[in-house]
Amino acid sequence: MRAEQMQALLVQRQQAGLLRQLKVLDSVKGSSLRFQGKSFLNFSGNDYLGLSGDPAVVAALQQGASDYGVGSTGSPLISGQQLPHQQLCDEICDWLNVEAVMLFSSGFAANQAMLLGLCGEDELLLLDKLSHASMIDAALQLPGGYKRFLHNDVGSLQKLLNAQQQAGLSLEKSAVVATEGVFSMDGDSPDLSGLTSLCQHYQAPLLLDDAHGIGVHGAEGAGSLVNAGLSSSAAQCLMANFGKALGGQGGFLACSQLVADYLTQSARHFIYSTALSPAIAVAMTQSIRLCRKNQWRRERLNENIHYCQQLAKQYDLPLLPSDSAIQPLLIGDSNKAMAVSQGLAGQGIWLSAIRPPTVPQQQARLRITLTALHQKADLALLFQSLKALL
Ligand SMILES: Cc1ncc(COP(=O)(O)O)c(C=O)c1O
Repeated sequence: MRAEQMQALLVQRQQAGLLRQLKVLDSVKGSSLRFQGKSFLNFSGNDYLGLSGDPAVVAALQQGASDYGVGSTGSPLISGQQLPHQQLCDEICDWLNVEAVMLFSSGFAANQAMLLGLCGEDELLLLDKLSHASMIDAALQLPGGYKRFLHNDVGSLQKLLNAQQQAGLSLEKSAVVATEGVFSMDGDSPDLSGLTSLCQHYQAPLLLDDAHGIGVHGAEGAGSLVNAGLSSSAAQCLMANFGKALGGQGGFLACSQLVADYLTQSARHFIYSTALSPAIAVAMTQSIRLCRKNQWRRERLNENIHYCQQLAKQYDLPLLPSDSAIQPLLIGDSNKAMAVSQGLAGQGIWLSAIRPPTVPQQQARLRITLTALHQKADLALLFQSLKALL
């Protein structure tokens, strides 16, 4: 693209209130952050359980780096998969009760590998309308194509599955379904029992992105499927990442040994990419152990979620329906969302505005994300400030 074209696009975005700009923070710690020497309460992070700065996780990272080095030095099939990686895989297998785990350098890469690897050439992918960019980008590359069902609408999915069946294709090859355990911009969840029953009926494999459910929902934080009374293997493949409730970085796929063996032959994001840092692998093993046994973190987070919903009612600031750590306040207009976000910043509160194209047109929002480390007083201050600004 030529420079003038880029310039014109930037001006256009600026005028529409949609220009994205990188802000370099001094640091992010617990439920607060520092920017240009000032301290802010942070309502925009994904460290839902407060594990990112936990002393035991930090110590594990340091020990891991001393014992194994900072980098993995290679892709998994060459020299990258080492003892700490295997220990992490074993820990996740035990936690989620699955046969196999594959590690990736990001959740984005893991999602791409899952969709590109597990949707056959003649299979149609049926994807929730609000799916994450990492799934949409993979869907766009699928030789068998994709269709989208209405957000969290089992009836809409059923219509598409029926249509596939009517088209006379063989049942087993007809469709693959992909959705999320908790949606990143809305914080809501599908009816996973209904969805898995439907998938079973149509023999359509289910691929689930549980980036925002893992660690937060279900016994020991085993995620959205377990929370719905299902087993993790109700999905043919489960994707989750380390960058949110687990406080680290990277992603993984949890699946049967057969699916892992199959993906190991073909998943380009696995084969042709440097393996996760061994120090991160040691830290994430420690983080998962804490996540499993520290039920108090989920209890504190749930208390904050309920208190947030209570304050929203009290101040008449209706949130989108969500029981997760993501509690969005719909604003609509992008410029207004930016103005409120800036107003909050003036009062020491960091709450980024989420604007199109990340969310649909006229659905700009303030996406409040909560952590176990927020105090009640933090939430009270947030809602007093929001009320004053709106
Ligand atoms: C729903 C969802 N899936 C996938 C990803 C990608 O994960 P990662 O940030 O580890 O690349 C994210 C987050 O960024 C997400 O919110």
